[in-house]
Amino acid sequence: MKALVLAGGTGTRLRPITHTSAKQLLPVANKPVLFYGLEAIAGAGIHDVGLVVGDTAAAIEAAVGDGSGFGIRVTYIRQQAPLGLAHAVLVARDFLEDEDFVMYLGDNFIVGGITALVGEFAATRPDAQIMLTRVPDPSEFGVAQLDQSGQVIGLEEKPRQPKSDLALVGVYMFTPAVHEAVRQLKPSWRGELEITEAIQWLIDNGKAVRSTTITGYWKDTGNVTDMLEVNRLVLETIEPRDDGVVERDCEIIGRVVVEPGAQVSGSRIVGPAIIGAGTKVTGSYIGPYTAIGADCLIDDSEIEYSILLRGASVRGVRRIQASLIGHNAEVTPAPRVPQVHRLVLGDHSKVQISS
Ligand code: TTP
Repeated sequence: MKALVLAGGTGTRLRPITHTSAKQLLPVANKPVLFYGLEAIAGAGIHDVGLVVGDTAAAIEAAVGDGSGFGIRVTYIRQQAPLGLAHAVLVARDFLEDEDFVMYLGDNFIVGGITALVGEFAATRPDAQIMLTRVPDPSEFGVAQLDQSGQVIGLEEKPRQPKSDLALVGVYMFTPAVHEAVRQLKPSWRGELEITEAIQWLIDNGKAVRSTTITGYWKDTGNVTDMLEVNRLVLETIEPRDDGVVERDCEIIGRVVVEPGAQVSGSRIVGPAIIGAGTKVTGSYIGPYTAIGADCLIDDSEIEYSILLRGASVRGVRRIQASLIGHNAEVTPAPRVPQVHRLVLGDHSKVQISS
């Protein structure tokens, strides 16, 4: 069995961060979200992995390399444009050969790995197996309709009037039967070759499509709210560790990781939180569910429930909450007189100011 991991796409919902970064490399507890997926694949005993990449190919390749760090062998597959999940299967045809494969969306996060799911598929070997989970807002997802016996009878992509609350999770398993299905597809109204339509084609052509409804935790980290939530969940599980320098005038409460070379002085850190390698925290409060990346500078500030990427600095600001702050971004107070907000924002930035 092989794996096909999708790490292309446009990431419009995470702009402006995705103007310069691959969303699959955004950190969850200071580790790229993609790495959790690759670990889950290796954990399921799959070693031959095709990584579909787009405009951010160079950054993904620099981070993942040949995959040996994960115990896998990675083949990079270039998708010229993000023309849909089924298009990614189409361009990976040569890599996939005639083997069964698991397709894994590189920005998805599943607690508990995929070992049991892969085992179930290998044991029953339907033409396709999809994973479903109940969601409160099905119109944001691919949605499945089941009959009374639990058979999948229909799929719809982001329906206006969903026929169920069962959303497709970003892990799919296929036999080579899917290749004929993706060859038949025409672009949808949004110009993409939809994997939901490929699976619908399998159903319509009498192929066996099974579903498993998972009750465990799953999130697509495609927007800021979900990123912060996954970050919170992973930080809940970290083991406290101090590999940096924490001065005696600090108060450290709960599960806090201080990575090598980080320096913390005159500060109060309430975990779960992680302070990245080489970061300096002085005279500040870092609150729960905060992941500060490497080489950041936090001075005279308060931050909680947030993610800071490498090299970000926050000075003299209170209080930052529920925020995602990009590489080398600087946050400082505006001059007191006159009372103004001074902003230099990248395209598609989003700022909420209390005034
Ligand atoms: P999505 O999050 O559905 O799409 P997107 O990355 O274009 O993001 P947005 O909707 O915010 O614009 O993609 C799911 C995963 O699949 C993600 O890791 C990107 C990847 N992908 C590809 O590799 N190729 C594609 O053609 C598409 C559409 C997505």
